[in-house]
Amino acid sequence: MLCRLLEEKLKLIFALPKGRILNEALPLLERAGIKPESSFHDNEDRRLIFRTNVSGLHIIRVRSFDVATFVAFGAAHIGVVGSDVLMEFDYPENYSPLDLKIGKCRMMVAQPVKLKVDDDPARWSHVSVATKYPEVTKQHFAARGVQAECIKLNGAMELAPKLGLAKRIVDLVDTGKTLKENGLVAVEQIADVSSRLVVNRAALKTKPELLRKWVERIREAVNG
Ligand code: PRP
Repeated sequence: MLCRLLEEKLKLIFALPKGRILNEALPLLERAGIKPESSFHDNEDRRLIFRTNVSGLHIIRVRSFDVATFVAFGAAHIGVVGSDVLMEFDYPENYSPLDLKIGKCRMMVAQPVKLKVDDDPARWSHVSVATKYPEVTKQHFAARGVQAECIKLNGAMELAPKLGLAKRIVDLVDTGKTLKENGLVAVEQIADVSSRLVVNRAALKTKPELLRKWVERIREAVNG
């Protein structure tokens, strides 16, 4: 009985996002002392939860938007998530104590190069936008009295202007290569983006020592 209680106390689910952040997050976690089992790196492996070198600490690998949801509902205790996702989903249960200084990019409004020639953003009154971020987009435009009609997509936003789905997009821009190759140009920046450590607030109360220990170790790994 005591053993099971102790096991439960030491159990921690760490949510990591698939995609490009993962490649930067793994070395950071390794510096903090967390290393997933080798099958985590095997693309053929269809498991979604993995053991680590730390007893009781498991890693789940989910879509970046879902990291925020898993942590907010306490299904995961701690995670790595882009500030773009935290801006879009304002979950009060998510506490983000640490900028991990990885996954840096910008959230931008972009449009076809041709449109830019005779278009002044200051004169917009209504815009149609394809985006993963309808809430952030609406707030961004509403702040200056522009009504944004948003079409929610989960990826490949750059296709939308070309195929007439929406005139503009709001998306993340890193090197700018994707915009360029699709005949688009960034016209406004909404936010600087980087990855954050996110912790479930209730878990901070039930596992305070354990979570604070990992937050501090990861903080040292970021600064070290
Ligand atoms: C992101 C983003 C852009 C692209 C920008 O997509 O949504 O499409 O990267 O990067 P760049 O400026 O360096 O070209 P990602 O590749 O992460 O995939 P996603 O569309 O599934 O989000």
